[in-house]
Amino acid sequence: MAFELIDLPYDDTALEPAVSAKTLSFHHGKHHKAYIDKTNAAIEGTDLAGKSLEEVIASARGSNQGLFNNSAQSWNHGFYWHSMAAEETSASDELKSMIDDAFGSVENLKSKLAERGAGHFASGWVWLAVKDGKLTIEETHDGDTLADQDGVNPLLVIDLWEHAYYLDHQNARPAYLDAVNGKLNWSFASENLVRGTAWTYPC
Ligand SMILES: [Fe+2]
Repeated sequence: MAFELIDLPYDDTALEPAVSAKTLSFHHGKHHKAYIDKTNAAIEGTDLAGKSLEEVIASARGSNQGLFNNSAQSWNHGFYWHSMAAEETSASDELKSMIDDAFGSVENLKSKLAERGAGHFASGWVWLAVKDGKLTIEETHDGDTLADQDGVNPLLVIDLWEHAYYLDHQNARPAYLDAVNGKLNWSFASENLVRGTAWTYPC
């Protein structure tokens, strides 16, 4: 069974003005779709057909860079759509407590995410994750992912590729990060924390 492009969990205007409907139409409908289509094409007729996306990523890591990039990007984008919400959400008491311990406050965490995201060279992703039992901000380059990394549970991610923000904010990645920080889905992060293992791509 082939992987599917998951639906956006909100209307395409729901994240405006941080992320416009036009950006979502290209980012979801063209970029994410292309990663899914290329993953499906690469595994068709191989032993990986029928495996989960996480299994495909883990298998391709270090052995098939093309498949790794496309499968990891398929996962990262699905996780990214859920990392943002149309409505304001709040963190669970457990997550809030961990954020306070690690960063002092949610506002400080947002500032750190924006700082790390703005400082990240070229394309990639900035993540909030649990590593060794503690909250941490991680960066991955290009299509790399935390989906298959032992001992790491990603809670939220922000896409740092130019295609995520260029139509809305041009080259001003910090403006995009500030805007997206206001759309982060703390309920989703709290669900990921409680589960204790990495989110799985739904289809
Ligand atoms: Fe992207």
